Amino acid sequence: MTATVSETKQEQKIDLAKLEDVLFHYRGFRGALIPVLQKAQHAYGYLPRPVIERIGESLKLHVSDIYGVITFYSQFRLKPQGKYVIRVCRGTACHVKGSQTIAEKISEKLGIELGETTVDLNFTAEEVACVGACGMAPVMTINEETYGLMTVGKATEAIDGYLEKAGSNLHKE
Ligand code: FES
Repeated sequence: MTATVSETKQEQKIDLAKLEDVLFHYRGFRGALIPVLQKAQHAYGYLPRPVIERIGESLKLHVSDIYGVITFYSQFRLKPQGKYVIRVCRGTACHVKGSQTIAEKISEKLGIELGETTVDLNFTAEEVACVGACGMAPVMTINEETYGLMTVGKATEAIDGYLEKAGSNLHKE
């Protein structure tokens, strides 16, 4: 398996300067936490610990309370996301049509478990609940693109295309 992004690596070189504008804009606003977290995530791609600590300091909130909010809402991420996010649907219709084998192929091709990001930050693999395209089960998505009636062969082909695009040296065999 390829190494995934470590905590230490994630938190290197976090430039807090770009957070200051956001904090300034929302100063004194009640209920500013969610929009501040959204803007911060937009700026950094995820919510690193130093950013959360600075938000807590500015909004006078405990870091543990902020983590509580972040983990409650699925829109927030505590780890960086890859440039290409590959999602395999694990809803019932897709499960029945063999999404497990697609999920296994994705993991194998990228050298990571679902829920992880490759160390080159090119790919994140995730499983998701029904994406609303059950008629095309099993379904996989790569960023905004939806791939239906997937087979292991089609998944391999699609991922190979993105590996090529990313110039990635991950598992191409
Ligand atoms: S269960 Fe996969 S799209 Fe609905």
